[in-house]
Amino acid sequence: MKKMNMITRLLFLLIAGVIPLAAQVLPAAPVKDPAAELALIFTVSFMIFVIATLMYIIGVMNANVDPIAELYFKIKHYVIPPPSEVAADVGHVYDDIKELDNRIPPWFNYLFAGTIVFAFIYMIDYHVAGISKLSADEYMEEIVTANLQKKIMLASGGTINENALIALKDAESLKEGDEIFHKFCFTCHGPQAGGLVGPNLTDEYWIHGGGIKNVYNTIKKGVPTKGMISWELVFSQKQIQNIGSYVLSLQGTNPPGGKSPEGQKYVEPVVVAQDTVKQKAM
Ligand code: HEC
Repeated sequence: MKKMNMITRLLFLLIAGVIPLAAQVLPAAPVKDPAAELALIFTVSFMIFVIATLMYIIGVMNANVDPIAELYFKIKHYVIPPPSEVAADVGHVYDDIKELDNRIPPWFNYLFAGTIVFAFIYMIDYHVAGISKLSADEYMEEIVTANLQKKIMLASGGTINENALIALKDAESLKEGDEIFHKFCFTCHGPQAGGLVGPNLTDEYWIHGGGIKNVYNTIKKGVPTKGMISWELVFSQKQIQNIGSYVLSLQGTNPPGGKSPEGQKYVEPVVVAQDTVKQKAM
């Protein structure tokens, strides 16, 4: 009885220790944070584990058995089947093969029981408590985030019509292009765009085509095989337009120590306005 009291006190002490731990991990409001949820699941599982272990120890101690020896005996008995007793002959022969009613190995039964326990936890988690999200909910959440991002992007004026690109000339756009170039591009293209690892961007010769449309696309998609990354996830469309416009504003600056031209000479195709064509036809 004395022993029991001591263990009971120990048990309360342990639970009292685990609860503040859980309180720290538990989010104050039902925040949908996957990390907090995981921590919560772990904490609750840990608490259950601690309580179950203590209950077990109390039970075994009351039976005056060494708990470790008891545990060892049980594990050994459950995991390794006892030497096969003579299996009952069910009296069925097919193709000269006799059917015997062999004992199912304990580990197999435990695996089976494990799947039932898993299914139960899974059901509680996904369908009753709703701690983990079903894929339909995850999908909806992604759509909501994407729409939000789209809204933010549209509100920031970061999108442009890529089909009607023009090289900008206004000071503000060129200034932003300049700043970005001297942060992200000069290491490969040189501080004055005369070329280092990357080609000279100030001459009329282009590997991937000159003019705002080609330059825009080269910056957007990058040339990953040659070491230039795609910048479309780094900058908004408007920013890429600004950088491209800045690069083109450097045409003919011929910086000292610039690399010799690479690629083809680019000549801007002459765009005949629709009106002119109509007028000519008339
Ligand atoms: C890690 C080095 C590196 C960085 C950083 C880099 N580039 Fe490049 N860039 C290259 C290389 C290499 C090429 C040549 C690709 C080829 O040979 O096909 C290139 C090609 C280009 C071209 C096409 C040139 C042509 O002749 O057609 C443009 C335009 C360009 N870069 C602009 C930029 C801009 C703008 C930035 C910054 C936002 C940038 N690059 C950052 C390495 C880089």
